[in-house]
Amino acid sequence: MTEAWNRLEAEATRLKPQSLRALFAGEPERFDRLSWRMDDLLLDLSKEKLDAGAMAALLALAREAGVEAAREAMVAGEAWNLTEGRAVLHMALRGGADAPAGDDVAGVLARVLDFAEDVRAGRYAAQAGAFTDIINIGIGGSDLGPAMVARALEPDRSGPRLHFVSNVDGAHLADVTKALDPARTLVIIASKTFTTQETMTNARSARAWLESAVGDRAGAHMAAVSTNIAAAGEFGIDESRVFGFWDWVGGRYSVWSAIGLPIAIGIGAQDFRRFLEGAAAMDRHFCEAPLGENLPVLFALAGIWRRNGMGWPSVALIPYDQRLDRFAAYVQQLDMESNGKRVRRGGEPVGGATGPLIWGEPGTNAQHSFFQLLHQGTDVVPVDFIVAANAREGAGPHHTALLANCLAQSEALAFGRTEDEVRAAMAAKGMADAEIDRLAAHRTFPGDRPSTTIMHRRLDPYSLGRLIALFEHKVFVQGVIWDVNSFDQWGVELGKELAANLMPVLEGAAEAAHPATAGLVAEIKALTS
Ligand code: F6P
Repeated sequence: MTEAWNRLEAEATRLKPQSLRALFAGEPERFDRLSWRMDDLLLDLSKEKLDAGAMAALLALAREAGVEAAREAMVAGEAWNLTEGRAVLHMALRGGADAPAGDDVAGVLARVLDFAEDVRAGRYAAQAGAFTDIINIGIGGSDLGPAMVARALEPDRSGPRLHFVSNVDGAHLADVTKALDPARTLVIIASKTFTTQETMTNARSARAWLESAVGDRAGAHMAAVSTNIAAAGEFGIDESRVFGFWDWVGGRYSVWSAIGLPIAIGIGAQDFRRFLEGAAAMDRHFCEAPLGENLPVLFALAGIWRRNGMGWPSVALIPYDQRLDRFAAYVQQLDMESNGKRVRRGGEPVGGATGPLIWGEPGTNAQHSFFQLLHQGTDVVPVDFIVAANAREGAGPHHTALLANCLAQSEALAFGRTEDEVRAAMAAKGMADAEIDRLAAHRTFPGDRPSTTIMHRRLDPYSLGRLIALFEHKVFVQGVIWDVNSFDQWGVELGKELAANLMPVLEGAAEAAHPATAGLVAEIKALTS
């Protein structure tokens, strides 16, 4: 272990026995000391189980790990994704870095936005009239970003309705197309590689669905987004509707590229540019602010503290924002595909824990499902809360209640309710002593359960772009500290390969290679005959 990791461990040993109640009692001004702002965006770490000493140790760790040099290497276009020999330049899509010479970022963006405006205005239309519906067919990074953003920015949508099909399960395409008119629907095939099994299967079926209504005009109802321009052409999509991007854009970092086409069709060019500007503002902050005032760095360090200092393996991501109901799914890919790694950049095993398990649902709904476990279960699960001070619908009882619940949850998790307090509350209600004895333990909240609160003025294209970039840079910083390659995803390859091998097995043309699978194949045969 290095000096900085030893120091972190010593700080964690010091802080583990201290409760959040005790920390706040000893330092009532914790909110001011442990929260940071970038414009209207607040990062409140005061209810994390850390203090100035822990923060100093974490910042020393970031320096020792070379976070600043790594950031510069990424922005300079070095092959930071070293297992694939690729630069990592998604920041160039929003002006935060320079693209490699010859890669015409501005030109492609202009084509995407022009096409989006043509579709919105009905200048590019079906024979039956302007397109009323868009289906994006893609998976992983070619789905989660546009799908999450489309949901989040529904109040900004003035264009056609947006739909997303990702799962190879035919149920997905069937349910989405059921209510749509193929004669008025534009299908976007989004795939970085244009080879992904799920996407190509859905793309072929969607083309057949279009053909059933518009015959050989189906091709005019399709557009494609890919780095594999040739394959999109071979699929039969005219090059005027094929939008490219580059191998220096990772799939889970691609929402800023032409992969954002459905978003641009929905919200228009001006708001799509605001979305990019929000991310660019976070890029500038990330590149320029000192580490100790740098929101993505501080957010990352709080995560390192939870994972490596305290030993907590999981994070609940709870937006108090119904329109961010796909945000946890988006961050799952961003974070877990990036930092779910067990070897270091040089190939040797990591010495400790890396990326956490991330999951979540929007509040207040989550309060009525799994929050019971967060408050009284046997595991500590740190929570990341996200909330906007203002609702798009304006002030009123809904948003006041939403805010009250968000604040109440972080307070309840941190400070709980002791058995003495529970007993006193029951006695004040006039309950009998025997009843108090019977219920006291059940009604006690241990507290000391940490959370981070991220707050901003309101959810809109700019603030959403900034929020996503905050999470992207957090993941980057953690990857540097853990010394893993955050930009490959070899862990998804074995399953893809085995699934391809099993297609002929299920079609009866080959035998399963492993007896464990052969048993299941036999069962499928029995159940389908
Ligand atoms: O899940 C693995 C993955 O390669 C992701 O990284 C990617 O976002 C997704 O598959 C889809 O890939 P493509 O855009 O090439 O279809």
